[in-house]
Amino acid sequence: MGARDALGEALLASLTADGAIREYAFAPQDFERVRRLIYARAGIHLNDTKRNMVYSRLSRRLRALGIDSFGVYLERLEHDPAFTAQEQQLFINALTTNLTSFFREPHHFPLLADFLRTRGDGARLWCAAASTGEEPYSIAMTMIEALGEGTSARLLATDIDTHVLATGRAGVYRLDSAQQCGEPRLRRFFLRGRGSNEGMVRLRPEVARLVEFAPLNLLDETWPALRGFAPLVDAVFCRNVMIYFDKPTQRRVLARIAQVLRPGGLLFVGHSENFTDCREWFALRGKTVYERLR
Ligand SMILES: C[S@@+](CC[C@H](N)C(=O)[O-])C[C@H]1O[C@@H](n2cnc3c(N)ncnc32)[C@H](O)[C@@H]1O
Repeated sequence: MGARDALGEALLASLTADGAIREYAFAPQDFERVRRLIYARAGIHLNDTKRNMVYSRLSRRLRALGIDSFGVYLERLEHDPAFTAQEQQLFINALTTNLTSFFREPHHFPLLADFLRTRGDGARLWCAAASTGEEPYSIAMTMIEALGEGTSARLLATDIDTHVLATGRAGVYRLDSAQQCGEPRLRRFFLRGRGSNEGMVRLRPEVARLVEFAPLNLLDETWPALRGFAPLVDAVFCRNVMIYFDKPTQRRVLARIAQVLRPGGLLFVGHSENFTDCREWFALRGKTVYERLR
């Protein structure tokens, strides 16, 4: 590349799509490198439309670390042993998408309640991309509705992102987001904040005690958090995470889920996730619900 071309490329890397000057140069090679890294570490496939999102989220890491170029940051991320495990984790946290809500895809919950009544108190459930906790707590409320407050059924809630797990463990939400549960559940399962906590709610201890939060990367070869929880689980919620994985990764993760899900157990997936090509392990049992074959 000639000196003029190189200068032109450097200038372009310093501009946003609408011509504003960026705080840090962000060249196409930097974006490609981020893509490779997050794919290798979390299975997340970032498409071209995520370029600005990646820039803005990782710029915060550069700022926090006092590093003035993406090249240096990525080099250290890949090769510097002094770059701590915590920073590796913060890189992943920065690039996950955590959108969720209480009783999202509500048709799953009556089906879960019926299923729990047949399984009874010993049921062990796994929520595999729990994000900030709204989904696992919706499952826990359903467990109480189906089995009663004294139930010994339990739920493991896992995610790759340690920030969202901390929010889940705290169990504190804005009242307007908890209102999606409906007034009767709001009264039964939440405590309302007073004074400076006005406008916030907290899950009651009888709901929180059913849920255990733990980090788990679906891509990892072993899932120690799950092994420590139960040899086999009765139902898995793995919703709206496989959409970030490519087909081979989806199949690998589904094969592993099939190994930990009890025959006859249920797999709940997201509205745009279709795994009918995994007929050797699962049969479709309802809208986005699969049964582990016996
Ligand atoms: C869009 S949220 C979906 C949350 C929830 N399941 C729902 O449907 O509302 C996707 C979640 O998947 C998590 N995630 C992404 N890659 C993951 C991986 N390799 N292992 C475990 N969790 C992952 C993200 O951190 C994020 O919290």
